[in-house]
Amino acid sequence: MQAFRASILHLLDDPAKAAEGAVAFHEDGLLLVEDGRVIGCGAYAELAPWLGGAELEDLTGHLITPGFVDTHIHFPQVDVIAAHGKQLLDWLEQHTFPAEAAFADPKHAADTAAFFLDELLRNGTTTALVFGSVHKVSVDALFAEAYARDMRLIAGKSLMDRNAPDGLTDTVESSREDMQALIADWHGKGRLGYAVTPRFAISCSDAQLAMAGEILAEHPDVWMQTHLSENLHEIKETARLFPKAKDYLDVYDRFGLLRQRSVFAHCVHLKGDAFRRLAAKGGAVAFCPTSNLFLGSGLFPLEEACSHGVKVGIGTDVGAGTTFSILHTLGEAYKVGQLRGDALDPFQALYLATLGGARALDLDDKIGNLAPGKEADFLVLDLAATPLIARRLAGGKSLADKLFALTVLGDDRVVARTYLAGVERWRR
Ligand code: GUN
Ligand code: ZN
Repeated sequence: MQAFRASILHLLDDPAKAAEGAVAFHEDGLLLVEDGRVIGCGAYAELAPWLGGAELEDLTGHLITPGFVDTHIHFPQVDVIAAHGKQLLDWLEQHTFPAEAAFADPKHAADTAAFFLDELLRNGTTTALVFGSVHKVSVDALFAEAYARDMRLIAGKSLMDRNAPDGLTDTVESSREDMQALIADWHGKGRLGYAVTPRFAISCSDAQLAMAGEILAEHPDVWMQTHLSENLHEIKETARLFPKAKDYLDVYDRFGLLRQRSVFAHCVHLKGDAFRRLAAKGGAVAFCPTSNLFLGSGLFPLEEACSHGVKVGIGTDVGAGTTFSILHTLGEAYKVGQLRGDALDPFQALYLATLGGARALDLDDKIGNLAPGKEADFLVLDLAATPLIARRLAGGKSLADKLFALTVLGDDRVVARTYLAGVERWRR
């Protein structure tokens, strides 16, 4: 058994829905882990009798939280982060497609996969839903590295059989074969899962979207990820390409791509009716504030989405997103809320980054908090990581105030250690 003494903060439910009991905080807490799972989490004074002869790691002064869940990120875009230019469609053509073309090379894919996963762990992200490039080898490389780290990770190869440069397109048949092989080789292996990944409607023919729907029907426990309603030019072009669809969401829905375990990135310009349909069919949204600001896409209506019962998680969306840090992303989510007139509550923010993200991925029976039985993916946060953070938190008025300051000021520097299934995988 492993035992860690520190302050512990996690969410047992959505604080917006469960007025009481959603937030669990133990100022002097104890976390007990065995065989990669949490077996106890609570006040030190209550759990100490269970310690027996177990060795205790005293991390007093630190804060233990669940690992962060990134519900939308692109692994082949590490090298285009912070690329100057126009909005989405130009950014894709100028920067992103050329960078992704390099992932036909297995060596480049493997090297970048290792860097990418280490960067996630350095930032405290223990689970991510990840876009690969169009090349099957990119996803093989990513899964191999995630498997070696025993990480709970979901990924898929991008489907794109039109409106992309040569060397970066597939076909209905090649992508069907690639997906079948990737699902057979990786889905359910260790803690890995496969996501059918139509890049976005513009890059997929009707036939390819229909094939994606067939694969999902054959594999009900596989995930689906795509982009939806991110940018006004993209929305207009999608309407032109799919004249029969009622709206952008309907393009995906008609092909069977809207269901439980479907995650739609952005949804910046979605309205009430679409949010209702999305929620009714069990789909989820990845809110990507740094990307939406960086590409000038717009301000995601978080409150409206939640009011319709849509499951929402946080996404960094690297490389249109500008940070791997979920903490920093929460700070930006708050600023987006300010511009909309809705101040994001700090506990709600932590929920989105942990249990909310786990629910968006339909993984909340396994991860998202530190309840006994969950996989022991957790972080040790250094509340004195910088002189400014130490000073601000020391003067903090309440738990909510300290947590809020941590999301506004914190980033990778705060993450002292990252554990995956009870094994330390990063130490600063
Ligand atoms: N829409 C289609 N592809 C992409 C992508 O790579 N990034 C973002 N932000 N939006 C997209
Ligand atoms: Zn994206």
